[in-house]
Amino acid sequence: MPKAWIRERKKDYYYRKAKEEKYRSRAAYKLLQAVEKYHFIKYRDVVVDLGSAPGGWIKVARKIVGSKGFVLGVDLKPIEPFPQDNVRTIIGDINEPETLREISNALPKKADVVVSDVSPNISGIWEVDHARQIDLAQQALKIALETLKPRGNFFVKVFQGDLLDDFIKKVKKHFEVVRIMKPKASRTKSSEIFILGMHLKEALD
Ligand SMILES: C[S@@+](CC[C@H](N)C(=O)[O-])C[C@H]1O[C@@H](n2cnc3c(N)ncnc32)[C@H](O)[C@@H]1O
Repeated sequence: MPKAWIRERKKDYYYRKAKEEKYRSRAAYKLLQAVEKYHFIKYRDVVVDLGSAPGGWIKVARKIVGSKGFVLGVDLKPIEPFPQDNVRTIIGDINEPETLREISNALPKKADVVVSDVSPNISGIWEVDHARQIDLAQQALKIALETLKPRGNFFVKVFQGDLLDDFIKKVKKHFEVVRIMKPKASRTKSSEIFILGMHLKEALD
């Protein structure tokens, strides 16, 4: 890692806060702030967290759902286990049909919420990263549509760009309420924003 990047990170408010409050990532605050604003995860919910390593969002979700809920993390990378028995993780690629099967098998019932912070390896070529991120967001939407209960919620990270409007249209087709937000913890210079779809509509033919 370049030294300047490490120096910058140490000065970052949310990086330090995550260390102090023992979250595994600064990203935890993005989910926390979004839920504080829109209340889309509740006590006892069953939550699927796509792209969850190292586990910042998992911890936020587990705090909200409590001991009666369930959190399932999915990532290409292994995640250090959590001590609570209602948190499970799966190593898997969200593009693989096998991962969807594993998610469905691991859930105690249909999910109340699917969240996705999945990110591709950043190439630095803006159009390429935007397109890859939209592909991953579409895949997250597909998993949400398969695993959510009616009126369930979906929260997903995207990068701004030409393909975003079409993606938002797709989310609007399936969810009654759609919001676009950038939590404070998301760096201003980053093009990431989050789309929230609330209340999954009945299946469309
Ligand atoms: C920004 S990190 C997630 C941080 C996490 N929300 C947290 O709070 O700790 C993005 C994650 O997406 C994962 N990822 C990227 N492509 C994936 C894929 N196709 N399937 C599953 N996970 C993927 C990466 O391995 C990485 O851990």
